[in-house]
Amino acid sequence: MRVLFAAAECSPMVKVGGMGDVVGSLPPALARLGHDVRLIIPGYGKLWSSLDIPDEPIFRAQTMGADFAVYETKHPLNGLPLYLVGHPAFDPERIYGGDDEDWRFTFFASATAEFAWNSWKPQVLHCHDWHTGMIPVWMHQDPEISTVFTIHNLKYQGPWRWKLDRMTWCPWYMHGDHTMAAALLYADSVNAVSPTYAREIRTSEYGEKLEGLLNYISGKLRGILNGIDLQEWDPETDKSLVANFSADDLSGRKENKKALQERMGLEVNKDKYLLGMVSRLVDQKGVDLLLQVAKRLLAYTDSQIVVLGSGERGLESGLWQLATENPGRMGVFLTYDDSLSRLIYAGSDAFLMPSRFEPCGISQLLAMRYGSIPIVRNVGGLVDTVKPHDPTANSGTGFCFDRFEPIDFYTALVRSWEAFRHQDSWRELQIRGMKKTYGWDQSARDYEAMYQDVCGNKEPTPDAAEVELFSVGQEADPSLQINQGAFRKA
Ligand code: GLC
Repeated sequence: MRVLFAAAECSPMVKVGGMGDVVGSLPPALARLGHDVRLIIPGYGKLWSSLDIPDEPIFRAQTMGADFAVYETKHPLNGLPLYLVGHPAFDPERIYGGDDEDWRFTFFASATAEFAWNSWKPQVLHCHDWHTGMIPVWMHQDPEISTVFTIHNLKYQGPWRWKLDRMTWCPWYMHGDHTMAAALLYADSVNAVSPTYAREIRTSEYGEKLEGLLNYISGKLRGILNGIDLQEWDPETDKSLVANFSADDLSGRKENKKALQERMGLEVNKDKYLLGMVSRLVDQKGVDLLLQVAKRLLAYTDSQIVVLGSGERGLESGLWQLATENPGRMGVFLTYDDSLSRLIYAGSDAFLMPSRFEPCGISQLLAMRYGSIPIVRNVGGLVDTVKPHDPTANSGTGFCFDRFEPIDFYTALVRSWEAFRHQDSWRELQIRGMKKTYGWDQSARDYEAMYQDVCGNKEPTPDAAEVELFSVGQEADPSLQINQGAFRKA
């Protein structure tokens, strides 16, 4: 099958969050199943110096009133064809943010649609998150190209209808108040990145005001768990580590712990309980919960804490302040650093993910693979991947808590700190996690089944009266509508 992945991120070159990891590592797993999988992403500024890109584009066109060109190169790790949409709007190094964010990604989506119609025609166009959300709308009446839309994060929903109407071509039949809603309505099939998240988003607690719509489309909604690239993330061969190790011989972990303590300015002591966190510092990740309990934890236990990540100012400064108040006990690096993240997975005793919501979560999978015990909230993909430690039954892979409350998180932390005192059962807990591998093989087959379901099988146009019921905002002002159909190439 010919499959084109369209996304705003693709690891290792462009990675802000887990979506980048998925877009970087799922395609090769599908290619191993015999599919012709290719990728298209915006040609961000930094890519031109880091990838080998020919001077001549393979496709030029115009959309949304602007010219663009598509360049073909290869993904540096898996060698799959990678297309870059070149336009000055993508020149800055930043991926997200900026006043033109809505325009840039809608333009990227539109350029991708042009490319798929006129250059390399896929049977399935696999779109990821709102940045590519208009593609299913435009492909809706194309009998040859089916669309799959993956929700990595429902919270980010893209521009509203009135803005889309101004910027681009919204076909006459389009319903949906914003990009995300339109994508959900028009994609031939939709999936969330874990079975639990796929259920949760149909409730008001996690539906981000789209739960009505998600219930309406539930017949074409499924959950497919993310995997990780088991070769790229392997403690036995990882070159960023000070010492390699495996489930059969964990001894190398001690040296990584020592190196991590040194690097983060902590007291070097193998007996201290070292907690790690690698995360985007945003509301979703529950960093505020950590800020609320850290002081108490550091006062009552001999724990150490390391955090790596960047994001919202308030969370960054809260962490920074805690680290300054607790020299030798807490270390914070407000950046993203791949090799340091690996050292944290390999050298920390436990790994924190107290998320408010978590579509799948990838770090807990990496932590388990590297022998760091996840401490997670029972939510989304964390429920599907981390089972609570039961010392009497010798089962489970981590520590879990239910409510998003400091006391619940704190209790889980103290339970884990106590369990750490029992080194033999702790080692068994580590080994159970390390042996539970979450690769892509099964999930790639689930995506393949989804592609087969949609191929040549277009969703009927949603019924206007029904869609009205699930409207999430005001109707577009007709006076703002500009007919930009002319921009679509014949
Ligand atoms: C987003 C979600 C995360 C998920 C990732 C990849 O970053 O927050 O839970 O694992 O996308 O799908």
